[in-house]
Amino acid sequence: MPVVFITRKAHFNAAHRLHNPAKSDEWNRNTYGKCNSPNWHGHNYQIEVTVAGEPNPETGYVMDLADLHQIILERIIDPCDHSNLNLDVDFLAGVIPSSENLVVAFWNQIEPHIEGARLESIKLFETARNVVEYRGNQ
Ligand code: NI
Repeated sequence: MPVVFITRKAHFNAAHRLHNPAKSDEWNRNTYGKCNSPNWHGHNYQIEVTVAGEPNPETGYVMDLADLHQIILERIIDPCDHSNLNLDVDFLAGVIPSSENLVVAFWNQIEPHIEGARLESIKLFETARNVVEYRGNQ
């Protein structure tokens, strides 16, 4: 049977600050630059969640994209949209909200809820040009 990859896109707006509290203010400024700005800054984040599997012979679906949409909504968009990622999101407590750390946290939020197919990749677009991708622990 052919393995097919299906992708659902979503977006959210959120504020954050890159800051490692274990390091000095100088280290943080030198490492993160403007992203260390004490008064936060925002991004229009886009995510792409890709699931892989064999199309079900009865439905023709790898997974109902409406179900995938609902999982993304409940597990990522609802908690993160119009939030401060440093302060407001339970599953990001203690996490430096770099795109790298976010995409791994998002994976852990979504993966247990994918049924009948496997989570293949999550891409996070922090800007149109800055993209990170996680494919699970390889
Ligand atoms: Ni930023």
